Amino acid sequence: MALQEEEISEQEEEISESQIAVHWREEEYLQPPAKFIGQANASDPAIIERFSEKNFPECFKDYADLLTWDHYWHTTLDTSNPPFWKWFVGGKLNASYNCVDRHLETSPNKAALIWVPEPEDEDTKAITYRELHRRVNEFAALLQDCGGVKTGDRVTFHLPMLPELPVSMLACARLGVVHSQVFGGFSGAACGERIADSQSRILVTMDGYYRNGELVDHKAKADEAVERARQEGAEVDKVLVWRRYPGRYVSKTPMVDGRDYFVDELLADYKGRQVEPVSMPAEAPLFLMYTSGTTGRPKGCQHSTGGYLSYVAGTSKYYQDIHPDDTYWCFADIGWITGHSYIVYGPLALGTTSVMYEGVPTHPDPGRPWRIAERLGVNIFHTAPTTIRMLRKVGPDEPAKYDYHFKHMTTVGEPIEPDVWRWYHQVVGKGEAVIVDTWWQTETGGFLGTGLPALNPMKPGSCGPPALGIYPVIYDEDGKEVEPGSGRAGNICIRNPWPGILEGIWGQPERFVQTYYAKYCRDENSKDWHDWPYFAGDGAVEAADGYLRILGRVDDVINVAGHRLGTKELESAAITVDEVAEAAAVPVIDDVRGRAVEMYVSLKPGFAAGKDTESKVIKAIETEIGKIARPKNVWVVPDMPKTRSGKIMRRVIAGISNFTDVGDVTTLANPEIVDDIRHHVQSEKQKRGEVPRELSREELEEIKSFGKSE
Ligand code: WTA
Repeated sequence: MALQEEEISEQEEEISESQIAVHWREEEYLQPPAKFIGQANASDPAIIERFSEKNFPECFKDYADLLTWDHYWHTTLDTSNPPFWKWFVGGKLNASYNCVDRHLETSPNKAALIWVPEPEDEDTKAITYRELHRRVNEFAALLQDCGGVKTGDRVTFHLPMLPELPVSMLACARLGVVHSQVFGGFSGAACGERIADSQSRILVTMDGYYRNGELVDHKAKADEAVERARQEGAEVDKVLVWRRYPGRYVSKTPMVDGRDYFVDELLADYKGRQVEPVSMPAEAPLFLMYTSGTTGRPKGCQHSTGGYLSYVAGTSKYYQDIHPDDTYWCFADIGWITGHSYIVYGPLALGTTSVMYEGVPTHPDPGRPWRIAERLGVNIFHTAPTTIRMLRKVGPDEPAKYDYHFKHMTTVGEPIEPDVWRWYHQVVGKGEAVIVDTWWQTETGGFLGTGLPALNPMKPGSCGPPALGIYPVIYDEDGKEVEPGSGRAGNICIRNPWPGILEGIWGQPERFVQTYYAKYCRDENSKDWHDWPYFAGDGAVEAADGYLRILGRVDDVINVAGHRLGTKELESAAITVDEVAEAAAVPVIDDVRGRAVEMYVSLKPGFAAGKDTESKVIKAIETEIGKIARPKNVWVVPDMPKTRSGKIMRRVIAGISNFTDVGDVTTLANPEIVDDIRHHVQSEKQKRGEVPRELSREELEEIKSFGKSE
């Protein structure tokens, strides 16, 4: 009986996202400039009608027809085995052919990629479509012969932002080999886990790269990765090492005989070699991209060849307004989905020029991005709110000093504050460019919520209406639809399949169904797609005009500088430290990075908090995940606030870290601990000058509901 009461009170404590009414100030619309409308790819409103629900799924033929198919498909969408949707069934194509070969006919000498090294005295390199074709073919031949890879195998990359990364991706795609690029900033251990999960036998890496003025020794991580993969039962046969400077090895790590090879040396045997692109079924996996979720290990999101490529080509054309003669710069890392879809596959499928930059935006000074834009004549610019906030903070007047002109700018990865949006518009865009805010996810392949730049006016802070052919619905916790325009928040779902959606989680079909469909599926025996809404894991509000405002994750994922970090992964890393008994990760509001991570740890009996506990926890997180997950603070506490059934109350510590109301704590097993922790943490934060500004209503709600998905 006592237990039941306890459970009820715990349930009552939970705040359902949908109960929150969000009263943000509606921003004014801004219209796109006439000059932009005049040249836009989508300027006829008929396109919206063409993608209306009555034309679903055939409307997506429009996107697929942007590609060259070896065999045309016979069925646009096969929904016979929900929720494993198949797009363009019967169709065959090759992604490398579509991104490279077919442009040789029209524009062999156009730059496909322009690569800007971080050191400003090094030469920028333009790689024409012809040159890209040569490099992709040679590396594909090498992978085939020397790597022994076959169609359907997986190959893991742990590559920084050098042209060798897209070359490697397109070489795999040419062979029908599934690539799995791990963000270069992730640790060797994190890479090793992904190698093991995907059962890759080849790791492609690089000796070093520049970051913030430093030549980073990257090859060292390959040895850690191979070791971790081995511990997890996966043997890596070969490590292929590209060199930042061909012929010169910049890493201090020894090469392992019989395992490690310099790619530039091997390539000598493949000069001029050509490899026929393998014609792949539309549903064949093109790549895996690992991402964090609420529980367990990162999931390998599996993206298809035909559906994915169609979707990124279509959205690049209509939303980013990419024309073949534009110079497009997406300032993201190809190690994330944004780079896959909107540096490599989308722009190259359209035959445009895609700019890549090796390093950090503020190196050697905050004028760098604008010098690059001026010098290369960039006219489409794509970045994340965290970068915009940082550039505004350190160089608010820099853009005006440079003579560049953007017609179009994108933002992605986190909600953008209207104030930051206005700086982006007025200062970076000089009032001349449209802004397209794009809401989407690793899982979704491409944009889900965003405006057509010539047709939908901009509204700062809203990502815009749903993308073409995307029909969202917002549900409350009980599966009841939240009335659009009511200003009430709920869990945003997409009612229909779309071509860019992940096909599954690599090797874990049940987890796929569980994570994205179980919550709102109406009937698990149903063969009708209408019964299978996709659960995005974000809170959202739909305004009366149909514009969506994304509020952030409803699960325990912390979005640091636009990158998803799972609390469970952070906590598992922290408890690898000997003396740590329990760990909890919470988000703190951060003016530049959006959110930062704070860790709370309690120690095993018999251990006293040594000075080095904090640094050990930080080190463990850097080793297991990578520097990007480095917590802002680690607090060693005597005990965690817990419910009587032993659950850590993350919302309570999140409240302490953010100086917000911790809510009712009387039902905790150890309510007295809350004041102790608060006193310790907040007085320390006051000393460090870390008292946050006043939080917005949405931020307050986020902190209050943190940890509820447990
Ligand atoms: C968040 C990045 C608000 C959201 C492409 C989503 C956004 C998660 C936006 C996915 C946006 C992404 N406005 N929030 N424009 N874009 N998000 O998988 O919470 O790294 O679920 O994909 O970032 O992050 P991911």
